[in-house]
Order: sequence, then C-alpha cells, then structure tokens
Amino acid sequence: MANYEEVFKKVVAHAKEYGFIFQSSELYDGLAAVYDYGPNGSELKNNIRNYWWKSMVNMNENIVGLDSSIFMHPTTWKASGHVDAFNDPLIDNKDSKKRYRADVLIEDYVAKIEGKIEKEVKKAIKRFGDSFDKEQFVGTNPRVLGYKSKCMSIMQRFSEAMAANKLDDVKTLIKELGIVCPVSGTKNWTDVRQFNLMFKTQMGSTADGASDLYLRPETAQGIFVNFLNVQKTARMKIPFGIAQTGKAFRNEIVARQFIFRMREFEQMEMQFFVRPGKEMKWYEHWKDSRMKWHLSLGIDKELFRFHDHDNLAHYANAACDIEFKFPFGFKELEGIHSRTDFDLKSHQKHSGRKVQYFDPEINESYIPYVVETSIGLDRMFLTILSNSYKEEKVNGENRLVLSIPALLAPVKAAVLPLTKKDGLPEKAREILSLLQCDFLCQYEEKDSIGKRYRRQDAIGTPYCITVDHQSLEDNTVTVRDRDTMAQERVAIDRLYTLVSKKVDFRNYL
Ligand code: GAP
Repeated sequence: MANYEEVFKKVVAHAKEYGFIFQSSELYDGLAAVYDYGPNGSELKNNIRNYWWKSMVNMNENIVGLDSSIFMHPTTWKASGHVDAFNDPLIDNKDSKKRYRADVLIEDYVAKIEGKIEKEVKKAIKRFGDSFDKEQFVGTNPRVLGYKSKCMSIMQRFSEAMAANKLDDVKTLIKELGIVCPVSGTKNWTDVRQFNLMFKTQMGSTADGASDLYLRPETAQGIFVNFLNVQKTARMKIPFGIAQTGKAFRNEIVARQFIFRMREFEQMEMQFFVRPGKEMKWYEHWKDSRMKWHLSLGIDKELFRFHDHDNLAHYANAACDIEFKFPFGFKELEGIHSRTDFDLKSHQKHSGRKVQYFDPEINESYIPYVVETSIGLDRMFLTILSNSYKEEKVNGENRLVLSIPALLAPVKAAVLPLTKKDGLPEKAREILSLLQCDFLCQYEEKDSIGKRYRRQDAIGTPYCITVDHQSLEDNTVTVRDRDTMAQERVAIDRLYTLVSKKVDFRNYL
C-alpha cells in the first residue's frame, strides 16, 4: 500500500469498526490517550498476554509469576528514583500553544535523516541489482556516511546535554537544527523544562491524615519489593526470574499515535536476578531470546531491529530497545535493560531491611544484579494489528483480512449453517458445543455465506466451518482456511483435532 499514514488511518478505523479498540469515554467526547478494548480487542489482548506468560513462565523452569498491586508504599518511588528522575523534557511552541517532548522532536529529526539513508540504499539496489552489497554500500558511500555522522553527532550532543541536565543546550540544539512546530511551522519555542510523569492520588480521607500515593509508572517495582518473598516461598536459586503483567500509568506529555503512547497501559515485565558480574551474559541471552519470541509469531524479521540506548536511564549499565516498524516508522516495542543492583540496593537503603541473597554455590551473600525485559502489551497489540492488516484483490473483489497468528486470533472458528432452516442451525450448534469449551467460536446464520466469510476474515478468524445439507447425510462440513481461502471437506469428529493443531502453542516454539 502506498501511503503509510493512510494505512495507519485505516488500521485505526478498522480497530473501531470491528470491536477491537474504542476511545475511552467516547460518549463524553473521549479522554485523550486512554482506550478501551472491545469484544475482539479484549480477546486478542488476552491471547497476547497468555502467549507471553506461557513463553516466560511455563517454558522457563527458573521463572515464576507474580501479581502485585498498583498502589505501593510511596517510599517505593523515592527509592526507585521515579520521584526525582522520571521526567521528560518538554517544550512548547508559543504560536501553536502545542506541547512537545524535546527528545522526540530531536529523534524525529534524526529519523528523517535515517529515512534519507534508506532512500539512498533503495536507489543503489536499483542501480546495482544482484551484485549489491548493502553492508559495503552503507560503510563506504560518502553521502550515506555524511548522513550517519550527522545523526551520531546530533544524538551525542543531545545525550550529553541531558546527562548534564543542561536543558538550555537542548533548546539550542533544537534551534540550530531549525526544527519547526509541525502545527504552526514556526521556531518560536519556550525553554525546555522537566516534567514528572507520575500520576498522584491519595489514600484515606484528609481528616485521617491521607497519604500521597502514585499510580505505578512501571510494574517492575512490585517485583523488586517482593524479591525476597518470592525467592524464599518459591525456593528459587539464582539465576531466576519473576514475571508479571499489569497496568502502568504515565502522564505522557505528548500522547499520540493511537495505542502506541497511552496514559494508562499494560506492561509485561520480567526481572531476571543474577550473580554480580554475570549480568552482561544474561543481557545478551535475553536480547536474543526476546527477539526470537517476536520472530516466533511469523512476522518478517526485517520489521524488527535493535536500538542501543545512548542515553541510559538512571538505573541501567546497558540497555537496548527492540524496535518494530510501525506504520509511522521504527519505534520502541520492548526494552531490555541491565539494571545493575540499583533497585534492590535502594530498597534496602530506604526500608532499612536487608534485601540480599545467600548464594550456596559460592558461600556468599550479595544483592543480585537484574536484567529486565519489558514490553508494552498495547504496543504488542498494535504490532500484531498493523502487521496483519491486509487488503487483497480476489477475483476482482476487495478482501480485507487480518492475518493474525492463529494462536492469537480472537475467534478461532466460526460455525456457519448455510441456511436458517432444514435442521442446519441445529447441526451447527452441535458443532459449536463440541468446540466452545476450548476455543472461542462464533455462530452466525445471518447474510450470505460470502458476506459471513468476509466478516470473519476482517477479524482474523482462522477457520470458517460451513454446515450444509450434505452435513446432515454424512457428518462432514466444509472448512475454509482464512489465509489460503482453500475449502476442504472434513468429518465433524475431526474438527476438534483440526482446530487444536491450528492454534497449538507448540507451533510457535
Ligand atoms: N520497567 C522498565 C520500563 O518501564 P520503559 O522503556 O519505560 O521501561 C517499557 O517501558 C515498555 O512499556 C516500552 O517498551 C513500551 O512497550 C511500553 N510503554 C512505555 N510507555 C508506554 C506508553 N505511554 N504507552 C504504551 N506503552 C508504553
């Protein structure tokens, strides 16, 4: 498809039309950057979450689960550094009155230069054909080298300014690069200021002496403060991990791009506790393992890339993102961070209690180091949705299909009686009852069979099972495959196995 923005608009409209995602409080004109998941969306979201959980917890004997609270003791956030350092640099355009993240303005500028590199590569592929060597080209072509060094020097200046908290330098950089406000087109910028992203609330009435609480901005801290509880009760030995999924909240300055950047979202995080000095080995292990997880879903590997952080968070000694090529470009999907012993050490200090592990192998107590993998469930949802949205021409007609991996598809099979009479609905309901305990199925008898197929394609249902008059005679049905559109006659007593195999977790290992 031609225009990426156009495609993205279509994906967003499709998500609403087919009950995947609604704007929150739409009845009251909506709440910015907050979304609700509809009938198909909640199924897809559950399936992604389950796939992640199974891959982490079932498939790793040294990883266990946790479900900690959103509310935590307020000192947690002082200890974690979020009260003092969980800020975004913001800047306003005085003409449009629009607010931006200074880092995003700079990153978008750099992304445009990177786009020019991609264009040069495409031109060269056309020019050189089969003999083209991409690595050699990007390592030697003077124009590409010029673009690369420009990107590097911009990011370096930005990182240095942020590390030294020199917000004036960030503004100077924005001015020097000639970055304009996308709305007003002017360079009339305010100074850059820091803005804390945590939402505050209160527990208890004021008369009781209410205490200020924060809505957690990451699920990870619930894992850290439960480190000893889990380690002792589950009798875990280092190295081991704790996995958790749950809501997180951030008062994002610029929340845009649909569910990419939300103010209320869900994370799937795993903290892996290791012996000090072993963290780099495990960091590499989890980078590799998480990339494999993404590729296991059959998404083109060209759509993923690693991006090392130049600007490390206050807790990390190494960090990278797995970026996905969303319709609006390569953006962070998942973070892999080597968080050192920062968090546990800080909780030990602020709580006054020992948070240490006795390692029987080396007869020593220490505060473990941590490697974390952290992925936004909503971003993963957007990855699946935008990657699976396809418009095709079939026999001169348009077909819109969501080629969602069968394991994740909201509905696994649709059971469709060809007509509403002659006992076909009754037969179809018998089939439904064979399948529905284990697989979410839909029964549909309205409209022509072609229309019903198209509706199921549009929500990504892997199988349509059609019950016709022959079914009453020989107990067979037609099974139509979403992706190939091939139709096969199948005995009813084989259906359960057929659907099981299609959606089997083992297919994705
Ligand atoms: N515990 C580490 C942590 O929270 P992060 O890079 O700030 O690290 C991890 O967030 C992941 O959470 C991101 O890679 C992204 O997928 C997701 N995420 C972060 N902010 C988000 C937002 N405002 N909306 C949706 N997802 C978000």
